[in-house]
Amino acid sequence: MEVFIRRLPKVELHLHIEGSLEPELMFEMAERNGISLPYSTIEEARNAYQFEDLQSFLNIYYQGANVLVTERDFFDLTWAYLLRCKADNVIHTEIFFDPQTHTARGIAFDTVINGIFHALRQGEKELGITSKLIMCFLRHLSEEEALETLAQAEPHLNRIVAVGLDSSEIGHPPAKFQRVFTKALAMGLKTVAHAGEEGPASNIWDAMNLLNVSRIDHGVQCTEDPVLVADLAKSRMPLTVCPLSNIKLRVFDSMSDHNILTLLDQGLCVTINSDDPAFFGGYMTDNFLAVNNALHPSRSQLVQLTRNAIEASFISDEEANTLNAALDEFWANHGNDA
Ligand code: HPA
Ligand code: ZN
Repeated sequence: MEVFIRRLPKVELHLHIEGSLEPELMFEMAERNGISLPYSTIEEARNAYQFEDLQSFLNIYYQGANVLVTERDFFDLTWAYLLRCKADNVIHTEIFFDPQTHTARGIAFDTVINGIFHALRQGEKELGITSKLIMCFLRHLSEEEALETLAQAEPHLNRIVAVGLDSSEIGHPPAKFQRVFTKALAMGLKTVAHAGEEGPASNIWDAMNLLNVSRIDHGVQCTEDPVLVADLAKSRMPLTVCPLSNIKLRVFDSMSDHNILTLLDQGLCVTINSDDPAFFGGYMTDNFLAVNNALHPSRSQLVQLTRNAIEASFISDEEANTLNAALDEFWANHGNDA
């Protein structure tokens, strides 16, 4: 089964590029940019990655992002992630970036997006990995600041497929961002939002009804509300679930308590994603393996998770057909392996 999982073609839809910053690269960038870190060794950094909840993680995550200064830094960060994608057989990825984390430190919006975008383009050319870029607003900041960020993105609209909403969910519900999301939709962008990670199921309803989202990021708290679960199954509203993240941030006590396969069996369009892999203990294959070891999915359930991600992605029907054909071929060759 482990070989099957390693070879399985994968599609990632929930990845914060700043959350893929491994301590090794963090130290390298800190040195070349003359930035001091609160850790003296890589091991000390890794040891500090113990979290009680989302906020305790976010404090460390924003701290780490301080080393990202130049276009080259954003390029190197994204390129390192794409090499991990290649190793994990990720064939398509839709990644988040948090411009406000950087513009607040005086880094130009253009520096951030140019570095990320050039790496994605090189990834497509040299690694054969297709990709899309999603710009997230930090929900602990004001809607006015989100509107300013949207204005900064205007010259780059051809490089951005959607806007998203991340950071502290509790106390910052979807309603706070209704105007900026309406504006983004009018500009031709799609919308997604983190909802029902730590926050209540009502945030999932509000993300759908007020922000018109095409996907819910996380969404695992939907089980609080059986009417919502039935609605998600019927509409096939995708949930980008992040198993290792949920354990690290104590959304579930252990992986054997995770509801991803229950939701899959109920007909929801659930997918597996890595969220912030440098902080949560692994990339796509690691997330699939962790689910496998605790919940023992069948091979067809594992393939269905990629099938769902293709359905939930923002690619054209033609591109989706290409990815589904790759998955069909994989199933024909490996569906019956001993
Ligand atoms: N939740 C909310 N905000 C985030 C996350 C997350 O899992 N990762 C990075 N920013
Ligand atoms: Zn996330």
